[in-house]
Amino acid sequence: MAEQPLLTPFKSAHLDLRNRVVMAPMTRSRAENPGTVPTDLMAEYYGQRASAGLIISEGTYVSPEGVGYINVPGIYSPEQVAGWRKVTEAVHAKGGKFFAQIWHVGRVSHPDLLGGNLPLAPSAINPHDKVYTPTGFQETVEPRAMTLAEIKKTIADFAQAAQNALAAGFDGVEIHSANGYLFHQFFNGTSNHRTDEYGGSIENRARLLFDVLDAIKAAGVDLGKVGVRLNPSLHGLFGITMDEQTIPTFDYIVKRLSAEYDLAYLHLTEPMTDVREVPFAEPHVAKRYRPLYKGTLIINVRMTEEKGNKVIADGDADLVAFGTLYISNPDLVERFAQHVPLAEADKNTFYSGGPKGYADYPAATK
Ligand SMILES: Cc1cc2nc3c(=O)[nH]c(=O)nc-3n(C[C@H](O)[C@H](O)[C@H](O)COP(=O)(O)O)c2cc1C
Repeated sequence: MAEQPLLTPFKSAHLDLRNRVVMAPMTRSRAENPGTVPTDLMAEYYGQRASAGLIISEGTYVSPEGVGYINVPGIYSPEQVAGWRKVTEAVHAKGGKFFAQIWHVGRVSHPDLLGGNLPLAPSAINPHDKVYTPTGFQETVEPRAMTLAEIKKTIADFAQAAQNALAAGFDGVEIHSANGYLFHQFFNGTSNHRTDEYGGSIENRARLLFDVLDAIKAAGVDLGKVGVRLNPSLHGLFGITMDEQTIPTFDYIVKRLSAEYDLAYLHLTEPMTDVREVPFAEPHVAKRYRPLYKGTLIINVRMTEEKGNKVIADGDADLVAFGTLYISNPDLVERFAQHVPLAEADKNTFYSGGPKGYADYPAATK
């Protein structure tokens, strides 16, 4: 029997992976210490999953202003960089490849997570969502519109975070420009009412992403070590509502990334909810964007072994990212190869802290 497409090696100008299975970025809230420093337990967890062709880390904050959940690690302090070094060493010791997902949540936060300050966002528009704070779930508040100086600082924070990630031993970084967080808030017309060069036209709403990529390059980081994550058909989650400008905005972003930025990859997610009835949504993200993007494409959301193999065989993506399956199947690649049944993940321990439901899912293969 021919080898499954998912298990074949992948080589591009920038990536050399032993298979096409990617561990999707997943926040697990285990940096349970005052400085949110990555821990030995996190090194154990990621090391257990190192047979993936590529691991993308949980979102890691570029600055204290970017925080939106408790016990999530940052990558701005020297202690955090030193903590991440132990984690990257654990993955590399087993021959894995590892990118850091760098993150700013924008308005999806709360003053209790920000030293009493208001969350920062493109515009002062409350996403009307809930966020998990030290005292439990709370309603989001109206954020403060970023000044141009704050936008410039944030761009610099991302460039510094990319450098910090490489110093910590990561093979690259993924910019978290999906799922309703800061970049997505700039892209979307319902969350961005700015009238300066970061709002209004499609070019202006997309500008922050390109400014960040340019700043990362100017800081001496090869863009071949940088990936970008986008979720074009996100609707009704994290305060994001699609409108007639949404898909044209993502078309513009993807075409420009393809033409002008030689990235490690573009990481796209299929819709997280059923959007077949949603006006302006694109239900088939990979099929729309594969022809528009000439570089390496990762596709994600509710993938299975069968679907993943088909996506690659059909040429709709180069690599396939698995989220939830990686929580409970540390040896997912070996299970695919040996046709071993998959374990179910316990949702109660996704963000619960502690080792339970984290590094204690056993491997079922040798
Ligand atoms: C516990 C959990 C945490 C997540 N955290 C992140 C995150 O930090 N960054 C991100 O881009 N996506 C995050 N996601 C979304 C996943 O990367 C992925 O898109 C989603 O789980 C769908 O893939 P799946 O169907 O294979 O699980 C998270 C998902 C889960 C279940």
